[in-house]
Amino acid sequence: MRVSAGNVIVTGATRGIGRATVEAILERGGRVFGIARNVDALAALEALHPNRFRGVAARLEDFDQLHAVVDRAREALGTIDGLVNCAGIALYEAVGAIRPDSIDAQLRVNLVAPLLLSQAVADHMRERGGAIVNVSSTLSERVAPQTAVYAATKAALNTLTKSLALELAPYGIRVNAVLPGGVDTDMLRTPRLRPGESLDEVELQERVESQLGALAALHPLGRLGVPSEVASVIVAALDQPWQTGSLITVDGGLSLS
Ligand SMILES: NC(=O)c1ccc[n+]([C@@H]2O[C@H](COP(=O)([O-])OP(=O)(O)OC[C@H]3O[C@@H](n4cnc5c(N)ncnc54)[C@H](OP(=O)(O)O)[C@@H]3O)[C@@H](O)[C@H]2O)c1
Repeated sequence: MRVSAGNVIVTGATRGIGRATVEAILERGGRVFGIARNVDALAALEALHPNRFRGVAARLEDFDQLHAVVDRAREALGTIDGLVNCAGIALYEAVGAIRPDSIDAQLRVNLVAPLLLSQAVADHMRERGGAIVNVSSTLSERVAPQTAVYAATKAALNTLTKSLALELAPYGIRVNAVLPGGVDTDMLRTPRLRPGESLDEVELQERVESQLGALAALHPLGRLGVPSEVASVIVAALDQPWQTGSLITVDGGLSLS
C-alpha cells in the first residue's frame, strides 16, 4: 500500500517544506492532518482542500497536548498510515552567545516533539504498519557556524530515527530521515546578525539576499533547493516498502563540497 495515498499527519504543514509535502500527498490521493501554530493558514488549507485536509493549531513545544492531537487525527481520519515530522526551528547563535532558552526551544521542537508524536502514532500503527519520516538536515553531518545547537538536535534526530526504525520494524512501521541541504524557505530568510548588531529594513533585506547567495554558492549544483524537491523525497520515503532506518540526503551536492 502506498502510504502517501493514505492518511498522513504532517507537522509544519503551513509553510515551506511541510506545506509542499501536504500538496504532494494530496496530489497522490492521500488525506492530511496538518499541525502548525497559525490558525488562519490552517483554515485556508482546509478551505482549499475540503474533506482532504484537516488542521489543528498546536505548539509542538507543549508536550502535554501532543497525544491528544494524535487522537484527534485518528478521529478525523479513521486510521493513521503516516507521520511526517517536518516542523523545525533554527535559532542562529554564535558559540559564546548561545542561550539556555534557545537550546531548550530547539530541543523541544526538533527532537522531543518528533519522538513523542512518533510514539503516539506508533500506538495506532501497530496493527496495520505505517511509515514515519523525520525531516533532519545536512547540518547534522556537515557543520556550519552559528548553528551548533540546531545541528546537534538534528544529529540526535538521525540517531532517534535509527532507534525507532529498529524497535518498530517488527510491527511493519518504517522510520526514515530526509536530510535537505539549503532550501529557499522562511527558515533561511532570517537575517543572521552579529551580537549587538542592528540593521534597518533595507540593510536587513540586503543581508538576507547576501546570505542566500553565499549559501547557494556552496551547493555544487549552483542553487538552493525548492520545497517541492524535498517533498518528493519525503513522499518516496513514506512509500518505499523495504526502506527503514535510512538517512536520505537531498542537497544539490552540498555534502560533496
Ligand atoms: N530550509 C532549509 O534550508 C532546511 C534545510 C535543512 C533542513 N530543514 C528542515 O526542514 C524542516 C522544514 O523547514 P522549512 O525550511 O520548511 O521551515 P519554515 O519555512 O520555517 O516552516 C516551518 C514550519 O513549522 C511550523 N512550526 C514552526 N515552529 C513550530 C512550533 N513550535 N509548533 C508547531 N509548528 C511549528 C511553522 O508553522 P507555523 O508558523 O504556522 O507554526 C511552519 O509550517 C525543518 O525541520 C528544518 O529544520 C530546512
